[in-house]
Amino acid sequence: MIKTRITEKFGIKYPIISAPMGPFYTTKLAVAVSEAGGLGVVSHATLRGKNSVKDFKEQLDYVVEHTDKPFGLNVRVARIQTDHKVLLRKIPQWCNENPKLREQLVYALTSAGGPRIAGKMWKEKAPDMAHFHVGPALWLVDKIVESGCDGIVATGTEGGGHQSYEGITTLVLVQQVTQKYPEKMLVACGGFATPEGVAAGLSMGADAVAMGTRFIASNESEFHQNYKDLIPPATARDTMLTTGGFGPIRLLKNKYCLEHGEIISKEEKISQELAYDMDEYLKDLMAYELVYTKGDTVDGAVPVGQTVGLIDSILDVDDIISGFTNKAEKILKNLCSNIS
Ligand SMILES: Cc1cc2nc3c(=O)[nH]c(=O)nc-3n(C[C@H](O)[C@H](O)[C@H](O)COP(=O)(O)O)c2cc1C
Repeated sequence: MIKTRITEKFGIKYPIISAPMGPFYTTKLAVAVSEAGGLGVVSHATLRGKNSVKDFKEQLDYVVEHTDKPFGLNVRVARIQTDHKVLLRKIPQWCNENPKLREQLVYALTSAGGPRIAGKMWKEKAPDMAHFHVGPALWLVDKIVESGCDGIVATGTEGGGHQSYEGITTLVLVQQVTQKYPEKMLVACGGFATPEGVAAGLSMGADAVAMGTRFIASNESEFHQNYKDLIPPATARDTMLTTGGFGPIRLLKNKYCLEHGEIISKEEKISQELAYDMDEYLKDLMAYELVYTKGDTVDGAVPVGQTVGLIDSILDVDDIISGFTNKAEKILKNLCSNIS
């Protein structure tokens, strides 16, 4: 058994968390991960064309109906994610209305914007829910700590999906954060997809390791089979950073990705956001919907991390959670036994 501050705080058996993967749904995946002893996370998903706030509530209801274990959620607090303020307000309200949800919803992760508004609101209205925020560089982690968050998800540029303009690797970032903020709970994320990776993340001082792409390629995830099937044969060279809704995004190099080309500059992105063209935003969302509903992995966007180069099969969630942790434990014990 590996005990960390996170396994103790959240009452989970294994120090593994599923990373949020909106706009895709990870509701069933979250149930499977939490049932397997990790911490499952419900994504900020928006692909069903429904009222996204109502849809989010339905996902939380689904999770509490299907597991009694702790779990978490993600809210993308980006400027252009227009439902985020309502969600920040509604989540504590839903917890107050449903004691089971309040008990199980132990982890709320914000990303793609600043942590302050969520932190202020949740500290007051949902004090039992630990608030973590994604930090892609040390100076941004400084802001997370200043804002009073309970913990940090240090995510490096090798990870799948949206990444920052910073381009810092997980390897460097996690060490920076453990050195500067040893008192903070820390999740290492981006680049993890093996037992060796889990052992390395914990050795660097992380309290848990979060994985995204590894969980897409699991039997229980609700990603389209065509998407899952692209992962085992892909190599670490098959991804690239291109322009996404909130900034650079790491995608599998397919037609959609190559047509998007290189990432645009931060300044250009900000002026695009200020001009905010709803039609453009919806067009972009279609590329995700195509993959989600039709499995069109040519014209659709396929976010994955460089970890595709580490994944050679689709596994059961339980094999990822308990299998990886048990092997990581052996690796760490073996290392210790070599120390005289
Ligand atoms: C399909 C996909 C969608 C993602 N969507 C989100 C999201 O909605 N919010 C977020 O904070 N991170 C998102 N990410 C980033 C992940 O949470 C995580 O940082 C990343 O998957 C880690 O890299 P890995 O895939 O190599 O494990 C997404 C990643 C992927 C692969």
